Amino acid sequence: MEKSRKTFIGLIDEAIAAANSMRCDELLFSYKGILYPTTLCSPETFKALESFEARRDDVILAGYPKSGTNWLSQILTDLIAISQKKTPGSESSANAEEQEEFPYLEVGDAEKYERMSKLSSPRFMVTHLRPENLPKSIFQNNAKILLLIRNPKDVATSFFHFSNRLATLPSYETWDDFFTNFMKKKMPWGCYFEYLSEWNKYAEKENIMTITYEEVKENPALSVKNIATFFGIPLTEEQLQLVLERSSFQSMKKNSDKTHGSFGNILFRKGGVSDWKNIFSEDQNEKMDKAFEEQIAGTKLGKKLKYDLYCKA
Ligand code: A3P
Repeated sequence: MEKSRKTFIGLIDEAIAAANSMRCDELLFSYKGILYPTTLCSPETFKALESFEARRDDVILAGYPKSGTNWLSQILTDLIAISQKKTPGSESSANAEEQEEFPYLEVGDAEKYERMSKLSSPRFMVTHLRPENLPKSIFQNNAKILLLIRNPKDVATSFFHFSNRLATLPSYETWDDFFTNFMKKKMPWGCYFEYLSEWNKYAEKENIMTITYEEVKENPALSVKNIATFFGIPLTEEQLQLVLERSSFQSMKKNSDKTHGSFGNILFRKGGVSDWKNIFSEDQNEKMDKAFEEQIAGTKLGKKLKYDLYCKA
């Protein structure tokens, strides 16, 4: 029998319940050299993903964990509703809770791609995967990808708090332990620096638009307009204001019980820039600055991150 889809909240709640009865060392598994959460991903799903058939009009959001993917998902879901002549938030439009499939591409059961093949366009999906681990058809069919990046110090800070509050991820006794693992590539979904290096190879492609968490924070209206233009979605001033209102940190946090269930309390933490200043030691700043300089600074994505502005004290 075909497995049925699970709601966003249902899938997360089930994963948390399963993780609660697991040992810490069972929470992650390795697939092709990268760690993933056992309760969310599986080798069978990764295998099935290889033959996923992307469509040219799929709307894909790619981002390393903790880069603000739930935030941009909210924006994109509303823009898609607008493109379908629906009013975001009205009964006829989907929100995270009601989406037809759990939006994270690599999360869920191996049959989800079969179910997705029956969904009408445009389909929306999010992924934390590196480009070389995505199905080939995404690039062959020129699906449009919004690549979201965030400065590494805030990503690490957010990831630390998230890991300690979410049962599906290993928790850490101290921030120092987490930082060591972050720098030693022992994170779920792999190393931040390698993620950026791999995506940098695609940064010039015209079907890929890169945006930073910091620029959306700085100028949300311009960011939403640019994203809408990239996906070819015309937007009135009134629609723009609605999207901005619904995607503000305050609105999303307030609405999170409905959209994300108890997971919302974990996810919507501070929603700002520079929280790293509260946690990084001098020595950790130096180590991160050095790694960034050596691995990312000279790349297109590295420059886009404005590291000196956002990551120097
Ligand atoms: P913090 O932990 O720094 O608060 P992801 O969705 O990829 O897991 O990223 C989570 C991060 O995005 C969290 O960062 C969360 O607070 C932030 N975030 C979520 N919604 C947001 C919004 N509407 N505006 C700004 N930041 C948001």
